[in-house]
Amino acid sequence: MKKPRKIIIDTDPGQDDAVAILLALASPEIDVLGITAVAGNVPLELTQKNARKICELAGRPDVAVYAGASRPLLRPLVTAEYVHGKTGLDGPDLPEPQMPLRDMHAVDFIIESLLSHETEEITLCALGPLTNLALAMARAPGIVPRIREIVLMGGGCFEGGNVTPAAEFNIYVDPHAASRVFDSGVPVTMFPLDVTHKALTTRKRLEAFRALGNRAGRATAELLDFYERFDEAKYGTDGGPLHDPNVIAWLLQPEIYRGRQINVEVETASELTMGMTVADWWGVTDRPKNVFFVRDLDADAFFDLLLARIGTL
Ligand code: RIB
Ligand code: CA
Repeated sequence: MKKPRKIIIDTDPGQDDAVAILLALASPEIDVLGITAVAGNVPLELTQKNARKICELAGRPDVAVYAGASRPLLRPLVTAEYVHGKTGLDGPDLPEPQMPLRDMHAVDFIIESLLSHETEEITLCALGPLTNLALAMARAPGIVPRIREIVLMGGGCFEGGNVTPAAEFNIYVDPHAASRVFDSGVPVTMFPLDVTHKALTTRKRLEAFRALGNRAGRATAELLDFYERFDEAKYGTDGGPLHDPNVIAWLLQPEIYRGRQINVEVETASELTMGMTVADWWGVTDRPKNVFFVRDLDADAFFDLLLARIGTL
C-alpha cells in the first residue's frame, strides 16, 4: 500500500463534519496529523469539544485536537444551531470528552506542521469557515508553497446559496478568509452545494448505517436523523445533503467525482451577494483557473464507501 496521505482536518462539527472525521479515522490510506476546530456551525468552545467527542466515538482519543479562531477575520460570527441543534451535535447522546484539548493554538499547529514536513506532503481538508487557514497564511506566508492541496466543502454556483440566496454557509461566515484561500495560489479542490446536494441521506441509506450494528454506525444514523430534518423540510426531498464527508471521500476514491478546473472568486464587497463564490464554469473570463470545481458524484458509491469504512469502527 502507498504511504498514507498526511492531512489536517479543519472543522466546525456539525453532524456532517462528524461523519467526515469518522470516515478519515476509519481509513488507513489517511494519516490525520491533527484536527483543528474553528467557530462556525456553533461557537468554538462547542466545535472543539465536538471534535473530541467524535474522535472518542471512533476509538481514537490519541488524535491531537486544537482550538483555533473563535470568530471570522472581519465579520461577526454567524452560527447554525437551527440546523445542527444547540450542541452542534444533536442526535446521539455522546459522552463528554475525556481526551484533552491540545494547548497550542490551531493556527500555530497548522504552521508548525507545514514547516516541519516536506513540501507538498500535507493536505489541508477544510470543512468549515476558512478563518484558521487564512490566519495561518497571513502569519506565515512561507507555508503557502508547502501545502500539497486544500480540499474544501464550500460555495456553490448553479445551486445558489443555502444561507443567503447567493452564498453557502462556510464561505458566507468568513468571506474574507475564503477570498485569501482561493487567491493564495495553493491548488484548491472545492466541493460546492452543486455536488453535495446530490448526496442525499435518504431513509434507505440511514437505515443502512443503523443496520451496521456498531456504535459508530448507530451514532451516524442518529446524527443524520437529526441533521437532515431541516433540509428535508426546506427542499422537500427524501433526506438532506451530506456535505463534508465528500472532502475525505475525494482523497479515497476521486474516481467517483467529476469536475472542471475553473476560476472561482469570492464576493467580499456587496452585502447582497456577500460570500458568493463566483464560478466561471463556462470560461468567459481570462481569470486564473485556481479551483477544481466538483459538480457531480456517484452517490451510491459515496454512501457505499461511508458504510464500508464506518462499519469497521
Ligand atoms: O453549507 C454546509 C456547510 O456548512 C457544512 O460544512 C456544514 O457543516 C456547515 O459547516
Ligand atoms: Ca462543516
